[in-house]
Amino acid sequence: MRIEAKAKINLTLEVFGKRADGYHALRSLVVPISLADTIDVVATGDGSITSNSPYPDDLCIKAAKALRAYAERVGCNSLRPLRPHDFGARIAVEKRIPAGGGLGGGSADAAAVLVALNELWECRLDRASLCEVAAAVGSDVPALVAGGAVVMEGRGEYVKEFGDFPPFYLVLVNPGVFSSTKEVYANCQPRMTDNPAILYNMRSALQSGDCERIGAASVNDLALSACALHPEIAQAMEALRQCGVMHPAMTGSGSTVFGLVPSEARGREVAALMEAKGYKAWNVHSSVR
Ligand code: C5P
Repeated sequence: MRIEAKAKINLTLEVFGKRADGYHALRSLVVPISLADTIDVVATGDGSITSNSPYPDDLCIKAAKALRAYAERVGCNSLRPLRPHDFGARIAVEKRIPAGGGLGGGSADAAAVLVALNELWECRLDRASLCEVAAAVGSDVPALVAGGAVVMEGRGEYVKEFGDFPPFYLVLVNPGVFSSTKEVYANCQPRMTDNPAILYNMRSALQSGDCERIGAASVNDLALSACALHPEIAQAMEALRQCGVMHPAMTGSGSTVFGLVPSEARGREVAALMEAKGYKAWNVHSSVR
């Protein structure tokens, strides 16, 4: 089975206090975008789970193992006699999403593997159960299993559909530095009070379809921390401003930054200008369906 694993941006990301488990409580609007990896998943009957990833802590393998463990525990295969220990998978990922850039690349791949193997192994988990398995794989994985635009809360384990809005165009820019999620969270200043206006403003900005309004409504409580650790991130945002993007923002814990643009043609121009400045840039759009 071939499946697209879409990258995401966080249009809002509010960080609250640190929880007892060491993670920060957050609220974030996650929107899938058109930049995607392609995942090929083949179910095998020999119990081995392999992937072509060079990384030892590959989230695709972790996802497949978590789903198999869940199947073993709850006996969710309703078609065949249940022998989940025989469930094997061969996973091949064609990477396009840059790793470690706040675009959820590894998490999107893991989410795609969960969706594919749920079908191929005939586990028949509903979305809610699949999200429960996803939460054990990584904080961003439930949001990406859900697909579409979602608001995630907790450390990412609570996911709600956000609803429809017109598509928008944006340019992604990679400043060429690795931003450690752990370090960025450790260095961030959580907000003291909950401000429901943040999500409310973003909803009405998205419904207006006005890219300046959406940019102005974007919030990322990790940006200050990430920019303090890596000034290259702030420099990339300044470079976007010089290209005419009024409200550049950062996605996740960085290092990728983005700027909304009014059209695909303008996106091409801005991406070309950023590339001329030596940045890697992608001209993409929101991809909710
Ligand atoms: O979820 P992930 O494994 O990517 O998180 C990496 C690290 O980032 C965690 O170990 C934790 O230190 C920090 N983190 C956090 N709060 C979150 C997500 C991540 O403190 N909601």
